[in-house]
Amino acid sequence: MLQCRSYDRCSTIDVRYPATWMHDLQYNDTITTVSGYLSMNILSGKHIILGVAGSIAAYKIAELARNLTLEDALVDVILTKAAEHFVGQATFQALTGRPVLTDMWALPEDGVVGHVALGIHADAVAIAPATANTLARIAAGICDDLLTTTVLATQAPILCAPAMNPQMYAAAATQKNIATLRQRGFTILEPAVGRMAEPMVGKGRLPEPDVLEGEIRALLGRRSGPLRERQVVVTAGGTREPIDPVRYVGNRSSGQMGYLLAALARDYGARVKLISGPTALTPPPAVTVIPVETTIQMRDAVLAACVDADILIMNAAVADFRPAHALVSKIKKSGESGLILELVQNPDILGELKEHHKLFKVGFAAETDDLIANAKGKLARKNLQMIVANDAVASIGQPDIQVTLINADGEITALPRQSKSQAAAAVLMAIAQRFNERAC
Ligand code: CTP
Repeated sequence: MLQCRSYDRCSTIDVRYPATWMHDLQYNDTITTVSGYLSMNILSGKHIILGVAGSIAAYKIAELARNLTLEDALVDVILTKAAEHFVGQATFQALTGRPVLTDMWALPEDGVVGHVALGIHADAVAIAPATANTLARIAAGICDDLLTTTVLATQAPILCAPAMNPQMYAAAATQKNIATLRQRGFTILEPAVGRMAEPMVGKGRLPEPDVLEGEIRALLGRRSGPLRERQVVVTAGGTREPIDPVRYVGNRSSGQMGYLLAALARDYGARVKLISGPTALTPPPAVTVIPVETTIQMRDAVLAACVDADILIMNAAVADFRPAHALVSKIKKSGESGLILELVQNPDILGELKEHHKLFKVGFAAETDDLIANAKGKLARKNLQMIVANDAVASIGQPDIQVTLINADGEITALPRQSKSQAAAAVLMAIAQRFNERAC
């Protein structure tokens, strides 16, 4: 008999679940069904102050303010006097639905002295673009306008995204101010390299709004996320095994799920290392990306990263076999004959971490047959705390995915078919929950 337990809102097994794995269920399996999508949006309800200083790059902050507001954050924009030469209050007011702040004497009292009220209530402060002048004033502790006063009065984490002429950025005074602020715990981003507003190329560009959003998410996560102060290693994509200089043995993994999980773990406050096979994806901001190509390279990177990690999410589609000899010259056709490739087995990365008992290990099983039985076998063989099983054929190249979570204690949680980002959110929520239960 199957025991069914309500996890979210649904207490019956959904008939949409694929029949392939229903056959594998044992009489004592506990099935947990989840009808909704579990997630945690780190931006939701957070009070974020965007300090905009006087740089041509200020226009990019309009998009950031909009995106943060759409994610349910409460966004207060402070414009410095110089910023008002580049962007108008009306733009930000329309995008955030809140009055734009410029004057430190015009704030509502709210029980706290007006000019420091913003800093006291903030969850995060982001200064972008941060000009040389604004950085210098903050480093010196000057508080002669609303932005610098807010910074001095806040206990919230502070992010600065310097943007300026490359020579001004490289100047000894600016670098000293940046070093001082880093020492005080500010997160200071590196400017991007590229074409400046004036006709020159250099290091001084403001990073794009999605990068700034990722950094703000990391800042908030490290303050209150369920995985704060944890190190999480995520692998993603497929490995490639060279046949000759132009050909390889590979697989069809896009890496999407792994990249989503890495970004979510960052939002949950973890320091994330993403060890990735080649993909066409843009790496998530505020995540350390370690690119690899072959299984051996991935094994070496994973073993090194896991020395002090808390959680390993092994999402990569690892090539189990590699050509016995990778040739240094391109293979040529010879007459009509075919080609026989000799393949040797690659190391099992999770297998090598079997004895790493402190590490919370999560594997993935994309199967074509006997989904639950195969996944359970891997969970036990590789000594995992959790395995995420899915039907390989039904998910390759599809926007949606149906995954089933199996825990080491035998609990099986079938998630509904949903978008890959919803599935990733539910998977990470389950990992964080399980990990924290074990850590207690
Ligand atoms: N994995 C690994 N090292 C390998 C192969 C797989 O660490 N050489 C990991 C995968 O990243 C995944 C889990 O093991 O998290 C299961 O991978 P999968 O390819 O489904 O299983 P295999 O162990 O390779 O078994 P098989 O291919 O025979 O089904």
